[in-house]
Amino acid sequence: MAQAFERFLVASNRLPIVLEKTNERWEVQPGSGGLVTALTPLMKENHGTWVGWPGVTGEEDLKAPIQEFASQQGYSLHPVSLSDKELQGYYHGFANEVLWPLLHGFHTKCNFEPGYWEQYQTVNDRFAQELVGISKENDFIWVHDYHLMLVASGIKKGFGQRNCCYFHHIPFPGPDIFLKLPWRLEVLNALLDFRLLGFQTNEDVINFLRCLEAVFSDVEQRFSQGLYEVKCGSRAAKAGAFPISIDFDYFAGRAKTEEVSQATAKLKRLHVDQQVILGIDRLDYTKGILERLEALRYALEHFPDLRGNLSLIQVLIPSRQQVPEYQNLKERIQGLIGEINGQFTEPGWIPIQYLYRSLSQDELVSFYLAADIALLTPLWDGMNLVAKEYCACSHHENNVLILSEFAGAASQMFQDALLVNPHHVVKVAQVIRRAYYMHKSERSERMKRLRESVRKNDIFFWLRTYLEAAFEGKSPIGSRERPYFYLSERCSEDS
Ligand code: G6P
Repeated sequence: MAQAFERFLVASNRLPIVLEKTNERWEVQPGSGGLVTALTPLMKENHGTWVGWPGVTGEEDLKAPIQEFASQQGYSLHPVSLSDKELQGYYHGFANEVLWPLLHGFHTKCNFEPGYWEQYQTVNDRFAQELVGISKENDFIWVHDYHLMLVASGIKKGFGQRNCCYFHHIPFPGPDIFLKLPWRLEVLNALLDFRLLGFQTNEDVINFLRCLEAVFSDVEQRFSQGLYEVKCGSRAAKAGAFPISIDFDYFAGRAKTEEVSQATAKLKRLHVDQQVILGIDRLDYTKGILERLEALRYALEHFPDLRGNLSLIQVLIPSRQQVPEYQNLKERIQGLIGEINGQFTEPGWIPIQYLYRSLSQDELVSFYLAADIALLTPLWDGMNLVAKEYCACSHHENNVLILSEFAGAASQMFQDALLVNPHHVVKVAQVIRRAYYMHKSERSERMKRLRESVRKNDIFFWLRTYLEAAFEGKSPIGSRERPYFYLSERCSEDS
């Protein structure tokens, strides 16, 4: 791909760092995740700058440690500081109590507080202003996720002309849900100011287009070279699906290290003659954790052959603890785990082990390796990278992935994962049993194909295809041919 930009700027809500204060001094650690890994080489080669909130507020002395850390990384970090009021309205409020539930289809959980919207606009304008201040017209600005949907419009409105594209990491719902947003017109208008809008799946793209059609009377769209070209009055943007992925080689490599093998063996020793089911999620109501636990309860109640032979390890990573909805959920999950363990525990066997903390990368990989079955049942999820990491680590290929139909990853993994409707606890229970008894040869055939697909479509492939779309206006993976949903069963007319 021809180099079409001078400098590469990335904007996201959070900077890719973790700040911790020890002995009155700030320590800066690199953030984890495939996005950071994939973008780092590009940032280094192109005088890159990452713009974002450092993750803490009200601190004066952050600039120096952040700059020192950035110089070691080989690219710049540009912190955007937020006041407590801004953080409350923009992040805890509009991002976490309005956009997050709405875009995941939980509109009844939304708190459409007008003050949140004001702060969201203020902070988005601030990002726009800061980005313009540190960039020139021939730089490329890549904005990430729902926190910053107004940035291109902010740049255009008041500050300058820039080449600005967007990637949306979470689902985009259809008009039946999205139109409930009191500021739907403003948000859709602002999104059209990005040159390219990347979504996780075709469904998200189509939902976005349907929302435009519902709100504007003059939308024209055509599909060309793998991308949708949308015209709306004087504005034109392109939209396409780019399913995000992981650094396959990193996970596959860690899974073969001595440290990880030892940690895995330790976990395995706790589950001799048992199959381990693994659930790993940020503690969030979109992840379907209560439904998953109910499915396990149903399985243990109705299939006595599973009792004593199968245990669930459920890891919950603390998240957004300031939002009341998340605190309530934690209590309900803990209560349900207690009930199920109380009901079924026998000497020598506890059905559910529960961890409420973050895991180091190697710990995570050892959990993946120890698990005979991964049970990932979000009610709606942009992608679900845990599903891809699990496969990347599974070099023994003797395991099964059970995946929700409503995870973006299902659009790529539907043939070899066991898909489930996470709301149907009886079916999920039956699929758990099916996974438990699945023969080694079928497990291996399915896992081999899953691993190959994740290896080919890794995070670096994702990055290349997005940039090709942004600079050459075409996408080799774009298609309108695929079915709209990936269901575990498809009906014929007479069924
Ligand atoms: C999702 C979003 C990310 C977000 C992450 C963690 O994956 O797509 O943008 O950073 O959740 O949430 P938090 O609110 O802690 O940043």
